[in-house]
Amino acid sequence: QLDSRVDSVLKLMTLEEKIGQLNQYNGFWEITGPTPKEGQAAKKYSDLKNGLVGSMLNVKGVKDVKALQKIAVEETRLGIPLLFGFDVIHGYKTISPIPLAEAASWDLEEIKKSAAIAAEEAAAVGLNWTFAPMVDISRDARWGRVMEGAGEDPYLGSQIAIARVQGFQGDDLKARNTILACAKHFAAYGFAESGRDYNTVDIGESTLQNIVFPPFKAAVGAGVRTFMNSFNELNGIPATGNSYLQRKILKSDWGFDGFVVSDWGSINEMIPHGFAKDSKHAAEIAINAGSDMDMESNAYVEHLATLVKEEKVKEDLIDDAARRILKVKFELGLFDNPYLYCDENYEKETVGKAAFHEGVLEMAKKSIVLLKNEKELLPLKKSGQKIVVIGALANDKTSPLGSWRIAADDNSAVSLLEGLENYKDNQLTYAKGADVTEGKTQFIFETKINTTDKSGFPEAITAAKNADVVIMSLGEHGLQSGEGRSRADIGLPGVQQELLEAVYKVNPNIVLVLNNGRPLAIPWADAHIPAIVEAWQLGTQSGNAIAQVLYGDYNPSGKLPMTFPRNVGQVPIYYNYKNTGRPVMTEPDSVFWSHYIDEKNTPLYPFGYGLSYAKFEYSGLSLSQKTFSGEGQIEVTVTVKNTGKYPGKEVVQLYIRDLIASVTRPVKELKGFEMIELQPGESKKVNFVINKKTIEFYTAQSKWEAEPGDFKVFIGGSSVQTLENDFQYLNN
Ligand code: IFM
Repeated sequence: QLDSRVDSVLKLMTLEEKIGQLNQYNGFWEITGPTPKEGQAAKKYSDLKNGLVGSMLNVKGVKDVKALQKIAVEETRLGIPLLFGFDVIHGYKTISPIPLAEAASWDLEEIKKSAAIAAEEAAAVGLNWTFAPMVDISRDARWGRVMEGAGEDPYLGSQIAIARVQGFQGDDLKARNTILACAKHFAAYGFAESGRDYNTVDIGESTLQNIVFPPFKAAVGAGVRTFMNSFNELNGIPATGNSYLQRKILKSDWGFDGFVVSDWGSINEMIPHGFAKDSKHAAEIAINAGSDMDMESNAYVEHLATLVKEEKVKEDLIDDAARRILKVKFELGLFDNPYLYCDENYEKETVGKAAFHEGVLEMAKKSIVLLKNEKELLPLKKSGQKIVVIGALANDKTSPLGSWRIAADDNSAVSLLEGLENYKDNQLTYAKGADVTEGKTQFIFETKINTTDKSGFPEAITAAKNADVVIMSLGEHGLQSGEGRSRADIGLPGVQQELLEAVYKVNPNIVLVLNNGRPLAIPWADAHIPAIVEAWQLGTQSGNAIAQVLYGDYNPSGKLPMTFPRNVGQVPIYYNYKNTGRPVMTEPDSVFWSHYIDEKNTPLYPFGYGLSYAKFEYSGLSLSQKTFSGEGQIEVTVTVKNTGKYPGKEVVQLYIRDLIASVTRPVKELKGFEMIELQPGESKKVNFVINKKTIEFYTAQSKWEAEPGDFKVFIGGSSVQTLENDFQYLNN
C-alpha cells in the first residue's frame, strides 16, 4: 500500500520535481525575514518555492522548520513535505557522552536510551532526521573522528550500531519522539591513511568485508532508513561515485530500500579527487553509482535534467532515487501531517527536560573507564580530606560537551569542579596550572594552538604540596577531536605533561582524570601516577558523573572500545591483529621478527580493558563438548567471582581464534559479551553459545562461511587477560 501511495505521487511529478526530491540544501539564510533578493540564498529560496528541494539540513527550532515546511507544503505545486536533517550525534541540546565514550559502557540498553533521548529532544525542535550513528570502524587514534564512532571492533561496533538505530528510530517512525537514523560514512572513512581526515583509503577485500562492513550491515538489519556515503576514495574510486559500494553491496546484496545521502559537497569533491571533470560529470557519476540525495553540491538540481535528456542518466534511476526518498517521507507520516514535529509548546516543555539530564548522567557514569588504581587512592574518602584540583579542563563548562554538538550552548556542562563541590565534607582548592589551548576554540575553525604558558605552574605546585589527594584534570579540549581534527602527536597537548611531572615531584598522590576524544599515548603517566580515570568528554552532566565515580557512588564499569598505544608510532594498533610469519624472535639475538627496536609491540591499555573498585576472578572455563558441526553448538561456561570489597559490574568477554583458514584470521576476535553484577564474595556462572554464526568470516571463496578446523576460545575481563580452551568445527 505504501508503494502504491509513493507511485501515485511519483506519477504526478515532472522530471524536475523528481530531481528536486534528490536535492538537499543547507538552511543558512533567514527564512522568517525578508525574501532574499540575490545570490545563493535567493536561488535556494526560489528552488524551494518551485518544488526543487527535498530536504534541508541545519535548520532547527520549530519556528524556522515550520516556516520552511509551510513553503514546501503550501506554495509548491505538489506540496511535498521536506525532510529536516541535523547532526544529532550525541544529543541535541542535552548532551550525552561522545559516542566513543558511550561505547566504553558496553551497555547496549543505556546506549539505546541515550539515542532515544537525543531523538525525542531533536524531534521536539522540528527535526525528523539525524546524521547518526557514525559506524565507521577505526584503528587509528590520530583520526579526529574516532570520537564519533564505537571504536575498533566490528562485533561491538555492530551491536552498538543496532542499539543506536533502534534508539533513534524507535518502533514507530510516525511517533513524534522518533527520527530517522543514518548509518555513515559508507564506507571505510575510518581507514584514512595516516589518520589524516579525508585522506585516501586503500584496503583489501578481506578487511572491507570482515572489519568495515559488519556495523553497516547490522544497521541495515536494524532497519536504518538512510545511509550517508563518505568523502574518501576507496581503492581509487571515491565512495560517492562508487557503485560497488552503493549499488552492489548496499542496495543489492543487503537489500537496503532506504536512501543514500551524499556527504557535504562530496559529489563535487570528485573533481579534486581527479575522478570527475566538472560538476555535471560528477552528478552523472554519483547518480549512476547510487547516491540518491545531493547534500550541498548543487550538482543534481543543476545538471540531472540535462543528463537525462542527453541519455547519460536513465530516468529510471531518478525515479528509483525519488521513490526511495518519498517512501521514507511516507513512513515518517509527513504526508499525513507535515507539521508533526512543529509544536512550539511541546518544544518548550521538552527541550532540556529533567528526565533527559538524568538519562545522560546515567550514560556518562557508565562510560567512565578506570585505567589504574594503586594504593587504593580511589574511591576518595568522603570527609576530612584536603583535595586540590588542578587543570584548566576541571573548570571548563564547554569542553566536556565535546565535538559535534552544534545545538548545545557553550558553558552548559557541569564542570568537574562543580561536581566535586557537591561533596562538602572535604576541603576543595582549585589551581588552573595551565590552559590546554590558547584562546577560544570554535567548531568550524582551526582549534587554537596548544598553550606554552607556564605562568600558572607555581600556584598549582604550592597548592599540591599540602594536599592529601591531587586531582589533575588533563587531556584534550572538546574541540581537539572531531571532524578535521586529526593529530600527529597523541600525547597530552601543550604543557600539560610538564605540569603533571612538576606536580608529581611535590605530591605523588595524584588521581589523573583524562578528558579526551581519542586514545592518548601517556606512558609516563601510566608508569608514575597511581590512579588514572578515563573520563572522555561526557556531555552536559560530565562533572557530576566523574565526581560520583571518584567518590565511589558509582563503581566504574567501562571497558576500552579502542586500544591505547604506548607511542604514536605504534598506530594503527588494535587487538584483532594478524600474527604475521614472524610473531616472535625465533633465534636468540636475532632482530628478524616483527617488532620495533625502540618500543614494545603491546599497547599501553588493551581493547576491552577497564578496572573496577571490585575485583573479579575468572575460573573454570569449560565447554559442553569439544566439537560441533553443521547447525550444532557448543555451550561455553566460565565462573566469575567478586573477591573485592565493593559490589560491582563486570563485562565478561568472549573471544575466538580460528587457527588455520583460507584467509588468515586475527589472533583474537570478540564474539560475545555480557555484563554481570556481583556483590562482594558472590560468584556467577556466565554462559555463551558458539555456533556456525560465531565462526563465520569472509573466506577466500568470497563468501561468508564457517570453515572446518581448530579454534581457540578465550574468556576474560579484557582482550588480554583471558582463560583459554579449544574446540573444533567439523565437516558435516
Ligand atoms: O553529517 C555530516 C558528516 O558527518 C560530515 N560532513 C557534514 C555532514 C552534515 O553536517
